[in-house]
Amino acid sequence: MNIYKTAEELRSFVTEERKQGHRIAFVPTMGALHEGHLSLVRRALKENDCCIVSVFVNPTQFNNPRDLETYPRTLDADSRLLASIGTTALFAPEVETIYPEPDTRVFHVGAVAEVMEGKYRPGHFNGVMQVVSRLFDLVQPDCAYFGEKDFQQIAVLRAMAREIKSPVEIIACPIVREEDGLARSSRNTLLSEEGRAQAPNIYRILSESRTWSKELSPKAVIERATQLLDAIPTLRVEYFEIVDADTLQPITRWEDSPKPHGCITVYCGEVRLIDNIAYY
Ligand code: PAJ
Repeated sequence: MNIYKTAEELRSFVTEERKQGHRIAFVPTMGALHEGHLSLVRRALKENDCCIVSVFVNPTQFNNPRDLETYPRTLDADSRLLASIGTTALFAPEVETIYPEPDTRVFHVGAVAEVMEGKYRPGHFNGVMQVVSRLFDLVQPDCAYFGEKDFQQIAVLRAMAREIKSPVEIIACPIVREEDGLARSSRNTLLSEEGRAQAPNIYRILSESRTWSKELSPKAVIERATQLLDAIPTLRVEYFEIVDADTLQPITRWEDSPKPHGCITVYCGEVRLIDNIAYY
């Protein structure tokens, strides 16, 4: 596996691949890689001639400085994992390579970026759009793979791609979970023992809520799930919304959307966990 730190090294690799007529896939990550990330890379390798993975903890998307500080950084282990599954190239730039000057761009993609994560993490999606657009410029891939674990992020990036007229095809991949149902996340390593034991309740209750949805309104489903989760020690629901899967706007009746989707954020102790589920 090739490892590049600078934009120049990356560019010459991409130019060479292009000369050979290769279709280039891209998987952006912030590292601390796990099976969720690897599933994207495996699929990207299967569907394309080569796959470039970036590992970059993007400071502009952290609205909480403590979260940026404690974000796990494990580049050596990441690099070994990526090499072991046949990744073509790893791009691990320094902050100065991505942001030679402070990025002052403000993206206007409308309502998809304003609800849920957009509301609770002000500036987060603007930072995600800054880094992903910058990475798209540097890598110039044909397609990029993202996980549905970050369901809203995919909708926001699709809106961004339209806005900046990016030719990169955005491909969504299913959530990878632990055996007990907890969505795999780099932040899971930060959970206390008790937190780790309680966290699987999030997906358990989301799954049960699919049954309730046959009898209860979206509002009643939200209330019941929130009540049950809040009653569990160490868990505190920040929000649970049922939205249309494309517009991400809340629905009040199931008939309001062909694809109702539940998106939840729960604090497990100090650790903020997100998950989501389809009701269709
Ligand atoms: P990160 O959290 O490292 O995630 C990188 C990619 O892996 C994202 O597309 C995310 O949705 C996907 N992913 C994470 N956990 C997953 C799981 N359990 N199952 C399936 N896919 C999973 O998302 C980011 O980084 C950043 O915002 C980024 C897009 C890299 C921009 O900085």
